[in-house]
Amino acid sequence: MENKGIRRTGGPHLVLVPCPLQGHMNPMLHLAKLLHSKGFTITIINTQISSHHHHHPNDLFFYESIDGGLPDASSIDGDVVPFLLELNLKCREPFRDCLARMMVRVDGSRDHVSCIIHDSAMYFSVSVADELEIPRIVLRTSSAATFYGFSLLFKRKGCLPIQEDQMEEALEEFPTLRVKDMPIFKTSYQEAKEEIFATTIHNSTMTASAIIWNSLTCLEQLMFKNIQENHLVPIFPIGPLHKHSKASLTTKPILTKEDHHPCIVWLDTQTPKSVIYVSLGSLVAISENEFIEMGWGLANSDQPILWVVRPGLVHGSNGSNLVDLFPKELNELMSKRACKFTDWAPQEQVLAHPSIGGFLTHNGWNSTIESICEGVPMICWPCFGDQRVNARFVSHFWRVGVQLEDKLEREDIESAIRRLMVDKEGKKIRGRAIQFKEKIGFSLRQGGSSCVFLDNLVDFIKTKSN
Ligand code: UDX
Repeated sequence: MENKGIRRTGGPHLVLVPCPLQGHMNPMLHLAKLLHSKGFTITIINTQISSHHHHHPNDLFFYESIDGGLPDASSIDGDVVPFLLELNLKCREPFRDCLARMMVRVDGSRDHVSCIIHDSAMYFSVSVADELEIPRIVLRTSSAATFYGFSLLFKRKGCLPIQEDQMEEALEEFPTLRVKDMPIFKTSYQEAKEEIFATTIHNSTMTASAIIWNSLTCLEQLMFKNIQENHLVPIFPIGPLHKHSKASLTTKPILTKEDHHPCIVWLDTQTPKSVIYVSLGSLVAISENEFIEMGWGLANSDQPILWVVRPGLVHGSNGSNLVDLFPKELNELMSKRACKFTDWAPQEQVLAHPSIGGFLTHNGWNSTIESICEGVPMICWPCFGDQRVNARFVSHFWRVGVQLEDKLEREDIESAIRRLMVDKEGKKIRGRAIQFKEKIGFSLRQGGSSCVFLDNLVDFIKTKSN
C-alpha cells in the first residue's frame, strides 16, 4: 500500500532520470536513496519496464512512466549506441509532457520541481530542463578518467577512426593510457554517428549546473583536479554510491533473499580467498569461441569458479543453456572442478564474501568500483567504451589487478589467474587492493571526502531550490 508519509519528506522535490540499463540504473537508485535520506522528495522517471534485478523501493519514491514505442533494452546484442540514440529521440516529448503535468496538478496546485538529476546518457533531459527553466544536474555513472579520456578524444579532432599503427602509443597528456585505451564504443553505426553520440553526452555534462560522480578523490584525485581546472561548474565525487547509500541507513538492513542466494550458500562452502568470480556485466556479448576459450582457461586454472553466464552473453544466443556449447572434454573437466554457474549473482554480496579471491571482469565502472571497495584484485578483460580506461587504471595506475590484452585465449587466462592467486606478484596486488578498501572506508566516514562532498551537494541543491 502506498505510504505517502514516507515518500513525501517535505524537502525539495527532485526528479531523477536514470538510464534503463543495469550499470546505470544501480548507481542512480543508490543516489535516490541517499538523497531521500537527506530529506528530499524523489520522483523517478521510468523509461522501461523494470527488470527484476532492479529493486525499486516503493515506500521511498514516486514513479512516473514514459512509454509508448520506446526501444527494448533486451534487444541489445552488445551494441548500446543504436538503443540509446533511439531512446533519446523518443523520450523528449513524453518527458516534457510528464513534467508539465507533474508541475500543474489537476486541482490546479503547483508541484515545484527543484531540480532534475539525469544520467549523462539521457541527454534528452537537457532541452526539457531549459524549456521549463528547471536547474539540471548530471550523474556520471562512469569514472572521472573516462570523462577526461573523452575530453582528450575531442581535442584530437578527426581522431576517429584511430589508425591501427597508433594503438600502442602512450597519450602525451596522460602516459598511463595508450591510444587503444581511449573510451571508444564498438558499434554497428558509422563512426560519424558514434562521434555525434559521444559529443552530445559530453556536452550535456559540460552545460549542467553541477556534476555528481560515482567515484571518489582517493581513487581519482588527479583526474578531478584536471576536470575542475577546465570546467567551472561544481563537481561532487560522492561515490561509491552503493556503499554510501547503505551507510546512510539509520537501521540495520533486514536479511533479503539475496543473502540466501544459491551463490552465497555455495560460497559459504569454499576456502577463504580461493574463488575466482567471473562476470562480464549486463551488456557485453562475446563469440562462441571466446566463451569456450574462457571455459578452458578457467577449468585449467584449478581454482574454484563462480561464473555468471547470463542469457545473451554469447552473440546470437537466445537465452538457451550456454554451457551446452562446451565440448564434451571441457564439460568433463568442469564437472571435476568446483565450478558454480549462475545466470545472475548478487554481485555486491558476492564480492564482499570471504571466499572470493579474485574477479575476472569486463571492468564496467560499477564492477570495478565494487571490487575495489571489497579489496578484491581483478583480472581485466575490457570490451568497449569506458571499460578500457578502467582496466588500464586497475592494472597500471592503482595496480590492483592484471590485464588480459585483446584476444581471449585459454593460456592467458590460466596464467593471469596464476599470477594473481599463486605468484608473489599477486600478494603485492592483493595488499594494494586492501589498502584501497581501507581508504574508501575512511572517505565514507564523517569528515571523509565523499561525506563532505555529499553535504556540499545537499547545500548546493537547496540553494537551487529557493
Ligand atoms: C554498462 C557499461 O558496460 C559499463 O562500462 C559502464 O561503466 C556502465 O554501464 P555493465 O556492462 O552492465 O554496465 O557493467 P557494470 O558497470 O559493471 O554494471 C553492472 C552492474 O550490475 C553492477 O552493479 C553489478 O553489481 C550488477 N550485476 C551484474 C549483478 O548484481 N549481478 C550480475 O550477475 C551482474
